[in-house]
Amino acid sequence: MVKRVLVINGPNLNMLGIREPKTYGTQTLAEIDAMCLAEGKRLKLQVECRQTNREGEICEWIQAAYGKKDGIVLNPAGYSHTSVAIRDAISAVGLPLIEVHLSNIHAREQFRHFSYVSAVATGVICGLGAAGYRLALEALAERLAA
Ligand code: DQA
Repeated sequence: MVKRVLVINGPNLNMLGIREPKTYGTQTLAEIDAMCLAEGKRLKLQVECRQTNREGEICEWIQAAYGKKDGIVLNPAGYSHTSVAIRDAISAVGLPLIEVHLSNIHAREQFRHFSYVSAVATGVICGLGAAGYRLALEALAERLAA
């Protein structure tokens, strides 16, 4: 059975390419999504990519993934540092989830050092730029095959 993975990108990540390129790189979200789809093909995963600027929509997508997806890659962006609701949605569905950040949040402002999501994530990747998504898919593929 092909494993199904949902890649969710949170607020302001639709601005990649324009947004603070020194911090987030020059790749657009469309380019990152294309890379995730290509990596999915290589790993024999069925990958779907979505982006929203709304916290509630992220909660709804995580809830809807229950029984429909086998794993999630999530960059909660700014909500990482504020959202109990997203963390609760992740706990509610119990799906393997890899948290990804393009930048190294621990090397930045103090308020970015803590993520509500990390404690309920299967794993966390940060500071490796867009490659983080590729590595997250690889980690999920390995875990889902086990
Ligand atoms: C981010 C890091 C967050 O602190 C920030 O709010 C983002 C992007 C990252 O991918 O590095 O929007 O999640």
